[in-house]
Amino acid sequence: MSTHLGAEPGQIAPTVLMPGDPLRAQWIAETFLDDVECYSRVRGMLGFTGTWQGHRVSVQGSGMGQPSLAIYATELFTSYDVRTVVRVGSCGALTEDVGLRDLVIATGACTDSSMNRIRFHGYDYAPVADLDLVVAARDAARAREGLVVHTGLVLSGDSFYHPRPELTAPMVAHGVLAVEMEASALYTLAAAHGRRALAVCTVSDHVVTGVELSSEDRERSFAPMVEVALAAAAR
Ligand code: ADE
Repeated sequence: MSTHLGAEPGQIAPTVLMPGDPLRAQWIAETFLDDVECYSRVRGMLGFTGTWQGHRVSVQGSGMGQPSLAIYATELFTSYDVRTVVRVGSCGALTEDVGLRDLVIATGACTDSSMNRIRFHGYDYAPVADLDLVVAARDAARAREGLVVHTGLVLSGDSFYHPRPELTAPMVAHGVLAVEMEASALYTLAAAHGRRALAVCTVSDHVVTGVELSSEDRERSFAPMVEVALAAAAR
């Protein structure tokens, strides 16, 4: 067991899907995996292992924000030798071209967090996704009729309720598509440990127009994203 995960060695698969919400982790495991076992309930941050099309896969909640994700991702990499983590989550669109329910495959993640500034002594590091995972996710997404997919940069922000939302304007002017809260830390930690990572996010709200999905719509739009993530992770 590690500090925040109650699994025995070997109970967590080398490939992990990582939603922020632990109840979403349970829903993913129960909906998409066979032969599911729950390996951790520590602090309610549920983790499950099962099989998807014959591949052993785990699903681990990360909590919200980079500090929380960093705890779980670090322990997955260092205590359980996890090789691949694919974050599945929601994001807010920052540009008119990105619509509700679209899928954003995050090739890289900018951030307003101080985590990397501290880690890199003030230098700006460029946290990027694993290229093979990006290509596999894009292929899987394009194969799904009706799913609109964008491949590009996200902003991993520390504040969901930002006091100065206009501060994201320079990011948008430099091609950032959407805002979420975890990818930057995931990509940085994967690089630090020589592992593979990707974040795929469904657009749940539009920061510019203020429109957002209902909770039923969120639920419905989550399934294609999970299938894309599983196809990419297992390839
Ligand atoms: N996740 C989903 N929507 C978001 C938003 N508007 N800001 C940050 N994270 C999000």
